[in-house]
Amino acid sequence: MRKNIVAGNWKMNTTLQEGVALAKEVNDALDKVTPKCDVIICVPFTHLAPVAGVINDKLGLGAENCADHKSGAYTGEVSAPMVASTGAKYVILGHSERRQYYGETSETLKEKVNLALANNLTPIFCIGEVLEQRENGTYLDVVKAQIEEALFDLSAEDFSKLILAYEPVWAIGTGKTATDDQAEEMHAHIRKVIEDKYGKEVAENTSILYGGSCKPSNAQALFAKPNVDGGLIGGASLKAEDFMGIVTAF
Ligand code: PGA
Repeated sequence: MRKNIVAGNWKMNTTLQEGVALAKEVNDALDKVTPKCDVIICVPFTHLAPVAGVINDKLGLGAENCADHKSGAYTGEVSAPMVASTGAKYVILGHSERRQYYGETSETLKEKVNLALANNLTPIFCIGEVLEQRENGTYLDVVKAQIEEALFDLSAEDFSKLILAYEPVWAIGTGKTATDDQAEEMHAHIRKVIEDKYGKEVAENTSILYGGSCKPSNAQALFAKPNVDGGLIGGASLKAEDFMGIVTAF
């Protein structure tokens, strides 16, 4: 059966010292509860190795991106093998901020997914429509195309290693959360898209997270939906108390 997962996405926040302190705080808080979900924090590259040194195995660690090449003359990039060598086990790929501000396309994302998988990193692959597509009614097709273009060359075995995150762009960092019914409609659609390509078993076993202004006050209603298997949490992952409030919503 698929896992419930709550993953933090710190984005470009916290200095190294602040980040290590936050990771410790989350780790300590997690030690005091028995979460009904896997818990992951995805942190800036600079923080990966030091954070790996202060958390235990109740808390998973991930990067927020990786390069679309394995190694070589790509100044400023960080590769999947480098991420894996820090002890991280996950990597967010295809976040809408990467697509919007850094021009990431399905073609580059394909390479990144392949490199992540080849280095035993679990991609947390993000998809989601912008406001205009929500309003003009094309949002289901848009998300289907994002999945097909970047992921449908994968074998069923590789596809089943992925975590998906549906993040409506209009809900990210805006305080405007999708309603639990809007999330459920999309998550059920995504699961059907997967089923049509890879079959029912793969579809049923894929964790699909919701992201976009998820907070302690709305997490429970979202996570209660049958096809919502957890959350990818931005702003609310920067305060241990808020993040734990979401973790314990399960
Ligand atoms: P948010 O971000 O929770 O701050 O809306 C979510 C994300 O972008 O992953």
